[in-house]
Amino acid sequence: MDRIRIVGGRKLNGTIPISGAKNATLPLMIASLLTDETLVLDNVPRLADVALLQRILGNHGVDVMVPGKRPGDSPLDGQTLHISAKRIVDTTAPYELVSKMRASFWVFAPLVARMGEARVSLPGGCAIGTRPVDLLIMALENLGAEIEIEGGYVVARAKKGLKGGEIRFPKVTVGGTHTALMGAALANGTTVIENAAREPEIGDVADCLNKMGAKISGAGTSRIVVEGVARLNGARHSVLPDRIETGTYAMAVAMAGGDVLLEGARPELLQSALDVLTQAGATVAATNNGIRVARNGAGINPVEVTTAPFPGFATDLQAQLMALMSKAKGTSHITETIFENRFMHVQELARLGARITLNGETATIHGVDRLRGAPVMATDLRASVSLVIAALAADGETTVNRVYHLDRGFERLEDKLGRCGAAIERVTG
Ligand code: EPU
Repeated sequence: MDRIRIVGGRKLNGTIPISGAKNATLPLMIASLLTDETLVLDNVPRLADVALLQRILGNHGVDVMVPGKRPGDSPLDGQTLHISAKRIVDTTAPYELVSKMRASFWVFAPLVARMGEARVSLPGGCAIGTRPVDLLIMALENLGAEIEIEGGYVVARAKKGLKGGEIRFPKVTVGGTHTALMGAALANGTTVIENAAREPEIGDVADCLNKMGAKISGAGTSRIVVEGVARLNGARHSVLPDRIETGTYAMAVAMAGGDVLLEGARPELLQSALDVLTQAGATVAATNNGIRVARNGAGINPVEVTTAPFPGFATDLQAQLMALMSKAKGTSHITETIFENRFMHVQELARLGARITLNGETATIHGVDRLRGAPVMATDLRASVSLVIAALAADGETTVNRVYHLDRGFERLEDKLGRCGAAIERVTG
């Protein structure tokens, strides 16, 4: 299994190109199931999760074509996928596949909307919390699907198609909102989604669906209205930049010191995280081609942060901020309100010398002057990258094991950091 080896203490200087967003790419690929025409996605990141979803969609009969390289293409450019769900040959998503990637559960909505039936395995447990799917099921029930749980599978039927309805989420859910949007797009009649997630990835999927002929308004606000249409067509769409990758590298720069342009990043996608970084003592500036983040000389200030749905501070940046605060000049508090068990990084950060105590949903981080390299491993994507951030500022060598977690969501992480001066390498085997 691959490992990442980092020797801490180098500043980061240069440019990091920001990839297309993983959490927009996955639902966009799934949206291809809604049409028998080709959906072309540009700026798709080269990630293990994208490759896995390609395989999962293949099981339903979806063809994904990736055009060959052209002269002048850089390995850091996004890829283009031509996705065709001309004929759906199977409406079952089996446990072996869904258990490998939770987001593949989301095929549920487009399959029922287009085919009138779907049989999708319940995803099971997850490293960051229980993560139920009750609200996704509720959304489709409100659109008229009849749903039963049989042998670990959610079986949904809507033989005469889905019908527009009202979906009021008792709690903000990204997956629930994607499900509601995809189901409602092909439903008969109008759907109103209340307390919808406002994450930028929802807006990106809604934009793409509208290019495919859907009639969605209000995406990006908490009230979305969808007028169902009888069929959707093909379209071409470019995936928006990854705000979590952006925030992660911004925190890496704040941790290591230096001056980096995050090329292609858009500040409005992560304003609350940028505000926290400014409080922490980094200099953050929007430029014409991205966001420039620097920290030179000054130490890291402690912060008080609570995760929240967008536009609040993202749970997907919580572990990275905790790594940064482990070297702050004082005590920070970080409260996690989205997932109940998303603190798996705490014990691993402790191996590097971080002083963190947990009390329910709140972590108290006592900043230390020095972190020291050690072998570490993590159980999920964002936790793994928090260890990379800590390692960049730790004395000596850190080895991050189980790199496959990083490969799920960070494209060429070691290249991107290495080009800015980090002493980082992948050790294969
Ligand atoms: N929830 C329920 N019932 C449901 C669905 C969700 O109680 O039916 C709860 C969850 O347990 C959680 C909260 O609602 O407490 C929010 O969950 P949400 O549905 O918003 O999360 P998700 O759609 O499963 C997406 C991202 C996550 C990100 C969350 C929150 C993708 C592929 N995943 O998950 O990303 O943390 O939204 O922003 O978009 C990651 O990229 O590392 C990652 C975990």
